[in-house]
Amino acid sequence: METTISPPRPVPLQPVVLHVNGSDHPLLLEPRRTLLDALRDDLGLTGTKKVCDMGNCGACTVLVDGRAMYSCLLLAVDCAERRVTTIEGLGGPALDPIQEAFVAADAYQCGFCTPGQIMSLRALLDAHPDPSDAQIARAVTGNLCRCGAYRNILRAGRLAAEIEADRRAQQGGQDGNAPGR
Ligand code: FES
Ligand code: FES
Repeated sequence: METTISPPRPVPLQPVVLHVNGSDHPLLLEPRRTLLDALRDDLGLTGTKKVCDMGNCGACTVLVDGRAMYSCLLLAVDCAERRVTTIEGLGGPALDPIQEAFVAADAYQCGFCTPGQIMSLRALLDAHPDPSDAQIARAVTGNLCRCGAYRNILRAGRLAAEIEADRRAQQGGQDGNAPGR
């Protein structure tokens, strides 16, 4: 007896507004689309890397409501109403202190894991401005580096905390010198 295989039925698209790097992005997405694919393919934010696509490597790390998370393990439709920050959302006119520290500490080789490492450290420094070395190591424990740049990545984490503290001190000094204070 012959069996017939019916073609897959189209999945209805779902409207969703993603709040990424401070802007709202209305999208129509399949409910199964990952946040990683939505960021890269629908929003063109390719700084977030796709490597294992199954929660093993950390290359896809972004901040969701301030917490470092693997975007390949999140459904985009579940991220509506949440604050998503990608590597493109860091820094401004100047590099983010962590980006600056990665350059200064030579903390990358191929650079493929770098955005994820930086996002994990960003979450750490936001929560713990003066982290211990153990906290820095723990923060990047879910980010694999195939080039083995770990030693300099840890150095960059420490340096980033120092750069950020310096910037805060400078900012405080400038605010204190502001007219009328
Ligand atoms: S691509 Fe998400 S953890 Fe590897
Ligand atoms: S710098 Fe190449 S994977 Fe980390």
